[in-house]
Amino acid sequence: MTKKILILPGDGIGPEIMAEAVKILEVLRAEGEALEWSFAKLGGAAYDAEGHPYPPSTQKAAREADAILLGAVGGPKYDELPRELRPERGLLGIRKDLNLFANLRPALAFDELADASSLKREVIEGLDILILRELTGDIYFGQPRGRRSNAEGHAEGYDTMHYSEPEVERIARVAFEAARKRSKRVCSVDKENVLETSRLWREVVIKVAQDYPDVELTHQYVDNAAMQLVRRPKQFDVIVTGNIFGDILSDEASMLCGSIGLLPSASLDVNNKGMYEPIHGSAPDIMGQNKANPIATILSVAMMFKYTFNRGDIAGRIDAAVKRVLKDGKRTGDIASAGETVIGTREMGDAIAASLRRPV
Ligand code: IPM
Ligand code: MG
Repeated sequence: MTKKILILPGDGIGPEIMAEAVKILEVLRAEGEALEWSFAKLGGAAYDAEGHPYPPSTQKAAREADAILLGAVGGPKYDELPRELRPERGLLGIRKDLNLFANLRPALAFDELADASSLKREVIEGLDILILRELTGDIYFGQPRGRRSNAEGHAEGYDTMHYSEPEVERIARVAFEAARKRSKRVCSVDKENVLETSRLWREVVIKVAQDYPDVELTHQYVDNAAMQLVRRPKQFDVIVTGNIFGDILSDEASMLCGSIGLLPSASLDVNNKGMYEPIHGSAPDIMGQNKANPIATILSVAMMFKYTFNRGDIAGRIDAAVKRVLKDGKRTGDIASAGETVIGTREMGDAIAASLRRPV
């Protein structure tokens, strides 16, 4: 059956990096893989065209697709819009609409780039962490939220941190299942010493762990975890955490690997339908300059083949193609060390596509 992919280039550098991901799809289709793809708008681009960051046309296409590739959303041009119309709302809207509760953010250090990290080579060499972030709950979506005036007449903003037992249970199961395919260690990150939400979180994770006696479970408070990630990151295998802690820790973890331009992500529903996106943002400062690193997006394509299409073979080939190109010394600006030649977005995409192409 033909696999139907919806591409949402989004804003800023999104369209540029997505053009490089399409080169990868073209190589695979030319080999005979039954792939088809179409485009729709999300974020600021959707607001400009249709007045909403996640318009009905995109919603329909997203529901019909087998998998979704997303570039990035957001830009200064949209900063003044009311919150409901901002590009970020489009992203949160599609995650919630499609029930993409499990966000996989691997942090993998390429040995070729160990010197691009701000940490010492020995601290990060061989690093392989999977951050599993719950994506459809927590303070991101909790009600009530809003603005009000307090008893003294001062303006006040408030949000609600919130998790229910089933929400924690399902993400915990994804964590334990993932750990079984890796080094069999899960570290659950919370703030149980302060938050009620975290107390429930920890209780549920401990309960789920009983079904996985072969997996070691540890717990860390989020402040400590943030410190441990830069102190001794290789202690971690799978980190499972809530939406806001996962947002913060995954940005931190990206720096262990040298550049935020390298890290892909998958957001999955219960059936492994997924949306795949680089974890970096829309980088409006370098947009349109052929400077963005397309690797995170191309590795997101690999994750799509692995998780939604069950084609670990193709995922492995894409990963290997990226590795070969890095080994050959190809570098975009964000991962170049002093003195290295810098190539552009398009040249990096061409090099990876060429490396992926099988000799005919
Ligand atoms: C991310 C981003 C988003 C988030 C923003 C753009 C809403 O930071 O995917 O990590 O906070 O989830
Ligand atoms: Mg983030």
